Amino acid sequence: MPEDSMEKTYTCTAPVNIAVIKYWGKRDEDLILPINSSLSVTLHQDQLKTTTTVTTSKSFQEDRLWLNGKEEDISHRRLQSCLREIRRLARKRRNDDDLGLDSTCLTHKAHICSINNFPTAAGLASSAAGFACLVFTLAQAFGVEGELSGVARQGSGSACRSMYGGFVQWLMGHQSDGKDSLAQQVEPETHWPELRILVLVASAERKHVGSTSGMQTSVQTSYLLKHRAESVVPGRMVEMIKAVRRKDFPAFAELTMKDSNQFHATCLDTYPPIFYLNNVSHQVINLVHRYNRHYGETRVAYTYDAGPNAVIFTLEQHIPDFIQAVQHIFPPETNGEEFIKGLPVPHADLSEELKRAIALEPMPKGISYIISTKPGPGPCVVNDPTQHLLGPDGLPKNIVRRHSSERDNGVKHTNVS
Ligand code: DP6
Repeated sequence: MPEDSMEKTYTCTAPVNIAVIKYWGKRDEDLILPINSSLSVTLHQDQLKTTTTVTTSKSFQEDRLWLNGKEEDISHRRLQSCLREIRRLARKRRNDDDLGLDSTCLTHKAHICSINNFPTAAGLASSAAGFACLVFTLAQAFGVEGELSGVARQGSGSACRSMYGGFVQWLMGHQSDGKDSLAQQVEPETHWPELRILVLVASAERKHVGSTSGMQTSVQTSYLLKHRAESVVPGRMVEMIKAVRRKDFPAFAELTMKDSNQFHATCLDTYPPIFYLNNVSHQVINLVHRYNRHYGETRVAYTYDAGPNAVIFTLEQHIPDFIQAVQHIFPPETNGEEFIKGLPVPHADLSEELKRAIALEPMPKGISYIISTKPGPGPCVVNDPTQHLLGPDGLPKNIVRRHSSERDNGVKHTNVS
């Protein structure tokens, strides 16, 4: 145990967000500046979250990072950008106004330990929650307050939107230094209490083409992406904000589906093309359109990021019926694992008319499970010290110490994003 009275430990959590107007394409790779603005809904942390503990201590020799129980290479460029920015803001704060502020920790190294409560890289925006949590927790540890989305953005673009709860826009900005490329809350998580979100997990496999390299190729080769960023997204942002503010579900749903479809069209327009959707994804799209057509109104919407998992938006009253329709087309595996995780879903009977209207070939086990959730708050501080992921020795609790000995043998892991 480091005998250092200046040792400090902070633990925080941060949410996943799902874009309804997608970010795809950068105008500056280093600062992570996008070619268009985007808008997302923050998902509730009761179902999906990252937890991060940061300990700073005089006795630490170097900054170190553990992700989901495995030590990672801290020299990763984007991690370094976040660490550097937080330390710069901490120094600035000390110099500017807060002379009384405890400044000793500024020179201290940090140990960082982070875990997700959902599968990493399954198209569930784990890097967004991960970098948002990293930046938020580092800010606590180094006494930095105020606007932090510009720092989170430098970890992963979509992470800037996870710095707020509810409905969040990321304004692309126009300055070359990125100072105006920030996230802003449009409405808080309490704004639309009936809104529900279902994550249909089609596959927990790692995605094939990562977003960072995928969008680079799209920027280089897709005219459709250029058209989308310049001529489609600006108008859509305005319409989407109006739909959210008015709680106009049909307008929100239609814009969400059209934007997801256009994003995946730009992936197909990329050369060589990128395919994120699979047969299950296509079947879910068909199911949603047939379901809405049957009822003569838009009750359900889908959106897909860089992976095959559908994220469904609907209103609370439609959840039981829609879930029955999903289970009818994707009969679950009956191995005792619960098919619906998260917010409880009341039972409903599926009508024969709806079955006939859907008329799709069932795909048994096409969906492995569903996470039922709703909009939720931004990052939170965890005040209970028993929840810290790092022990008093500054090393991860509950993991085999193998990682530190591997590291001592010179073995370092490099897979961060
Ligand atoms: C399809 O934020 O993962 O999820 O900035 O390179 O880290 P980097 O990319 P990332 O891209 C997310 C793309 C998306 C759409 C979105 O979340 O807006």
